[in-house]
Amino acid sequence: MGEGGEKGGKGVSDDRSLIRQLAQEASAKGRPLDWFEQLYARARADGIAVPWDDLAPDPNLIELFDKVKASIAGRRALVVGCGLGDDAEWLSSKDFAVTAFDIAPTAIDECRRRFPDSKVTYAVADLFNAPEGWAHAFDLVFESSTIQALPPEMHAKAIHHVSGFVAEGGSLLFVARARDEHEATAGLPWPLTRGEVNLFTEREGLRELSMEDYPDKHALPPVRRFRAWFQRAAK
Ligand SMILES: C[S@@+](CC[C@H](N)C(=O)[O-])C[C@H]1O[C@@H](n2cnc3c(N)ncnc32)[C@H](O)[C@@H]1O
Repeated sequence: MGEGGEKGGKGVSDDRSLIRQLAQEASAKGRPLDWFEQLYARARADGIAVPWDDLAPDPNLIELFDKVKASIAGRRALVVGCGLGDDAEWLSSKDFAVTAFDIAPTAIDECRRRFPDSKVTYAVADLFNAPEGWAHAFDLVFESSTIQALPPEMHAKAIHHVSGFVAEGGSLLFVARARDEHEATAGLPWPLTRGEVNLFTEREGLRELSMEDYPDKHALPPVRRFRAWFQRAAK
């Protein structure tokens, strides 16, 4: 799943220009987070798909989880920027006590509508202003494609806040579009550089246990991604 402006399965190409337009207008107003709710609300009103939501769990999550599951220390999980909830539900099916949040109220409303019997705790929350009780509170944090949907000047701060959810001994599974350091970005999505991803270790104190830089063939067309497993040392 998970792209800031494109998706694997359904190829809703027209929506890419819509989200770029919404994102540009929001940034021009100095409110770069506003367009997410606008997009979900418009998608619901017009009966169109949200471009990154495949309505299925992310195969990148499933594959990475399979490699690391034996090393996950506990059962508290957090899904960052959860969209319509498929990754959160998948982790819940793996017996995690999942909290999943998104800044867009309509997205969270859709999660609750789609999964009325869910065990997931869904919450409207801003990554940059999350509940204090979430600090270092999760054994497993999953972040896919939220940071790349934010302007590059917000990436380091977003990395700081995502890292802050990881408990001692906990793991972060991270998926994002990748680019070379000097490769220009064409606008949303804003792929991350290796230097940015290194902030998880160099600035936030996590250990990198695995890192892949690969063409993700689940996307159509394939896109270059980083997929990483980080861990906070246990005390
Ligand atoms: C590109 S989508 C990715 C959704 C999902 N993680 C996936 O992989 O399909 C980014 C998601 O992050 C949410 N989001 C963006 N900024 C956020 C913030 N500051 N706090 C919480 N959620 C945010 C958006 O509403 C959107 O659902």
